[in-house]
Amino acid sequence: MTTLLRLDASANTSSSLTRALADRFIDEWRALRPQDRLIVRDVGVAPPPALSQDFLAAAFEKGARSAEQKAVLKLSDELIGELEAADVIIIAAPMYNYGMPAALKAWFDQVIRINKTFSFDLTRGDRPLEPMMNGKMLAVLTASGEFGFGPGGLNENAGHLVPHIRTCAKYLGADHIRHVGIEYQEFGDERHRASKEAAFAAIPGLVAEFSSRLSDDARAS
Ligand SMILES: Cc1cc2nc3c(=O)[nH]c(=O)nc-3n(C[C@H](O)[C@H](O)[C@H](O)COP(=O)(O)O)c2cc1C
Repeated sequence: MTTLLRLDASANTSSSLTRALADRFIDEWRALRPQDRLIVRDVGVAPPPALSQDFLAAAFEKGARSAEQKAVLKLSDELIGELEAADVIIIAAPMYNYGMPAALKAWFDQVIRINKTFSFDLTRGDRPLEPMMNGKMLAVLTASGEFGFGPGGLNENAGHLVPHIRTCAKYLGADHIRHVGIEYQEFGDERHRASKEAAFAAIPGLVAEFSSRLSDDARAS
């Protein structure tokens, strides 16, 4: 069965552009493939906790874990379980202070875990980390108040949202990544309107592309 994991990271639950983009993605997907399973994880509403000493000790424990350590990793295990199940991941992420919302970073910190989502081996030389999953597709749906965060743009050097997600995505097992973003939100002008329109218009093509990449088995299920 094909499974989608939708992650919402906006703290705004009333007029969020990224939530609206993700809604559109899911609506389009459902129209095409109503049989698929959807997991929704809203870190904007319920942010995972930041990492702690107890978490690190439990995650890096080499021997048998105590009951307390297992309890500390319970949410991480649950979030990793959702990720493992997913064939398609949708990350709906606003730009906050030029990067990802802290809640989304906390989610990455919970799921990128040694011997769960990546292995570490110094015999590999200067790149000892290797992802343990692969083959997933990732749609990154963003919104920003300013604009020009891409290559050659006015704010090129300040755009840490999408590059950071792209870098971390390999540990999610995502090797096919697409980005759709809305810009100019803070200007509320014609440029914003056009950016919004273009982003929403791009969603059906994105869904068609992703669904066409599913393996024959997944397509049949
Ligand atoms: C706390 C906060 C920080 C923000 N920081 C930035 C920023 O650094 N750069 C930017 O272009 N927009 C910034 N914005 C604007 C948001 O990216 C924009 O409002 C976007 O639409 C938010 O996504 P949402 O509509 O899904 O909530 C910020 C907004 C908030 C609320």
